[in-house]
Amino acid sequence: MKDILQELEHRREEARLGGGQTRIDSQHAKGKLTARERVELLLDEDSFEEYDMFVTHRCTDFGMEKSKPRGDGVVTGWGTVNGRMVYVFSQDFTVLGGSVSETHAAKICKIMDMAMQNGAPVIGINDSGGARIQEGVSSLAAYGEVFQRNIRASGVVPQISMIMGPCAGGAVYSPAMTDFIFMVKDSSYMFVTGPDVVKTVTNEHVTAEELGGATTHTRKSSVADGAFEDDVEAMAELRRLIDFLPLSNREKPPVRAFHDDPDRIEESLDTLIPDNPNMPYDMKELILKVADEGDFFEIQEEFAKNIITGFIRLEGQTVGVVANQPLNLAGVLDIDSARKAARFVRFCDAFSIPLLTFVDVPGFLPGTGQEYNGVIKHGAKLLFAYGEATVPKVTVITRKAYGGAYVVMASKHLQGDINYAWPTSEIAVMGAKGAVEILHRTDLGDPEKIAAHTAEYEDRFANPFVAAERGFIDEVIQPRSTRKRVCRAFAALRTKQVEMPWKKHDNIPL
Ligand code: HXC
Repeated sequence: MKDILQELEHRREEARLGGGQTRIDSQHAKGKLTARERVELLLDEDSFEEYDMFVTHRCTDFGMEKSKPRGDGVVTGWGTVNGRMVYVFSQDFTVLGGSVSETHAAKICKIMDMAMQNGAPVIGINDSGGARIQEGVSSLAAYGEVFQRNIRASGVVPQISMIMGPCAGGAVYSPAMTDFIFMVKDSSYMFVTGPDVVKTVTNEHVTAEELGGATTHTRKSSVADGAFEDDVEAMAELRRLIDFLPLSNREKPPVRAFHDDPDRIEESLDTLIPDNPNMPYDMKELILKVADEGDFFEIQEEFAKNIITGFIRLEGQTVGVVANQPLNLAGVLDIDSARKAARFVRFCDAFSIPLLTFVDVPGFLPGTGQEYNGVIKHGAKLLFAYGEATVPKVTVITRKAYGGAYVVMASKHLQGDINYAWPTSEIAVMGAKGAVEILHRTDLGDPEKIAAHTAEYEDRFANPFVAAERGFIDEVIQPRSTRKRVCRAFAALRTKQVEMPWKKHDNIPL
């Protein structure tokens, strides 16, 4: 018996070593942790239950039968994050470059199936040279199996991709279909075709980092939702994010103990809005002052900064926040911000996370650049996403709410449940200057008359009361009491139930 147990331990030790100490050292030399070290950092201590440690590939081409590393380049299983279950796969670059074989993919599929069945998120840690070249089409087919599961799991369990090394070719499409992608600066990249192919086909000279590094994907392409300095920070922040999320669409978001008074009054918010309506201010200050303990997990912080998206808690319960940011492009809606916010709103709705919207929006960004690139279609995404969302929706207008953008930003007309406005709100078709130039075109040469018309327009519309008279705003609130009002609003909506008409699925403009 002793020998049998020793043999088991020996086999386990061998599997744990992956591609061997030299390759582990080389992984460390690149500033990267190993697949197992990452899993250990992600999960609660001693909570990891590993599956399929002894799986090996079955390939016999190109001399592959001579080496059959245990685990086949991916570590899979489940564990807990702050006591809550998650499934995880972590590709081991030290084993055949973490490349994906038939058996490697089958291990991933197994835990994805279990995650779906048991209702727990799937965390994918990607560090792979892509399809295992020696296995040819079998490897491509295996990717297809993973893709199909990504699609089935979408909206059922949260799926999060950590890109912590190479991720190239068709392999990028599995992360691309998950809910969130995070990268590690300087050690990860994602592209469909690498720099060499790009050079051959388009004659562009570009480095891997420029083409698909963390900076590119968080700032330009918006493929990634965030980037971290190193593997340790990435795993710590991932744990923080998981704490905000429900484990599946079958349950409500988690409720955490909170130490922040829901009735907390923030007098400083009374002076957040500058006297000059054209002066910007930082909307993040409002978010942080409303959130429990000022804790905010931002999504896509570096992209389309004119809109802010992320998670906070109110009375310990997760809330998704969408907010125009006057500090950037005056907080206008444009293609990028509409796409960014629409995807976030849809994630929240799919997973029963209530939505809090802070509005200060002067309208949609004008210009040929926007029109030629389809601002109509992309702007409609946000409108559609808000309108179809059935989670509790609470909206606070802080200043401008002009034109179509007013309607889009979770207005009463898109079934906002509780719509508040600060007394500084201006709810109108457009700003005074633009309105006067259209309504009083004939007076444009007379500054005195224009000033009088402007004053009249501002007097009539630069306030929340016309909208409040019509019931489009439920209440005009003191800025200082925003946290209290919003907490009470969500508390009143906890039992909200909405029936939507049956359909196979909608046809959101893509
Ligand atoms: C088999 C692979 C591999 C692969 C790497 N390795 N990628 N083995 N299939 N796809 C092996 C290497 O042979 C090497 O083995 C070890 O992993 C480490 O690789 P290195 O090249 O030494 O590492 P590095 O210099 O860091 O370069 C990493 C790399 C490079 C940039 C990822 O390995 C590379 O270009 N690999 C091929 C990438 C690729 O074209 N993949 C197919 C993409 S298409 P030894 O034994 O020498 O240490 C795709 C389609 C998916 O994935 C489609 C889905 C539908």
